[in-house]
Amino acid sequence: MSTVPTPLIIDTDPGLDDALAILLALGSPEVDLIGVTTVAGNTSLANTTDNALRILELAGRTDIPVAAGASRALIREAPRTAEYVHGSDGLGGLPLPAPSVPPVASHAVTFLAERLLSTPKPVTVAAIGPLTNIALLVATHPEAAARIGRLVVMGGAARGGNVAPTAEFNIWSDPEAAHRVFSAGLPLTMIGLDVTDRSVITVGDVNGMGDGRVARFVEDSVGFYGRFHQDRYGTTDTYQHDALALAEVIIPGIVETSHHYVTVDCGETLSRGTTIVDLNDVTGHPPNAHVALEFDHPRFVEVLVGRLKDLDTKVR
Ligand code: BDR
Ligand code: CA
Repeated sequence: MSTVPTPLIIDTDPGLDDALAILLALGSPEVDLIGVTTVAGNTSLANTTDNALRILELAGRTDIPVAAGASRALIREAPRTAEYVHGSDGLGGLPLPAPSVPPVASHAVTFLAERLLSTPKPVTVAAIGPLTNIALLVATHPEAAARIGRLVVMGGAARGGNVAPTAEFNIWSDPEAAHRVFSAGLPLTMIGLDVTDRSVITVGDVNGMGDGRVARFVEDSVGFYGRFHQDRYGTTDTYQHDALALAEVIIPGIVETSHHYVTVDCGETLSRGTTIVDLNDVTGHPPNAHVALEFDHPRFVEVLVGRLKDLDTKVR
């Protein structure tokens, strides 16, 4: 029985793991990627926009519009980008075709509002970078934001952090935006770092996965990303944070979640950018986010590698 694919917009800052997440969506019949919006995060907005266009070019999907969004955080400039992880261009300097089409003229926030209002089926938004564009959408087009069918966020953590003891990069990059988004009453699922740090993909998982250009890029990308992981964590295993969020979009329930109240620390101390997750429901505040707890790792690997393989055979 075939079902109608869910319309999807990915808000992203590619980023090596963002690239695999976008390719995963393109290889998955359950979703119809109707747009990509970009935000500064892992690298500058100019780079993230160019990278989104180059990934779609690689996959032969230049029909999918890319809209550039926020070039900086809402209140304070983000403390830093993550070229030390993703390379100076954000995609490890890997060879990718130059874009043959430019981004659309509309700003990402206008684009999101238009698509949310004009698409008959509720649109899922996967936000896998800092939440600046989504916060601006909530502030400027609340009627459009209210039409989001599902907002799946890669960001935050119930415990731990990767850029500060308790803060994760996407939330820490724009805490005020994240605070606004978590307070907006949206149907939000939070795929946090304490779960995505188990989304391991090894070089062995992807080597020899195909003979096309998508397979080559995936192998090179995991290889480059693995070298950062080797330096930082002593293993070439890579964490595919953003692809795990997309797996949850494509196969709802692949990540087990629990409904809790979450807020964001916007203070000026070391905990700035921390997601405070009321796991034991001690505040009495109503839950506002489905928080990731667990997932079936072998199934995730099978879905990700399988879908990337399928895409590789289609793209010649
Ligand atoms: C998140 O930060 C970025 O570096 C990755 O692309 C991912 O979205 C993980 O903390
Ligand atoms: Ca990202």
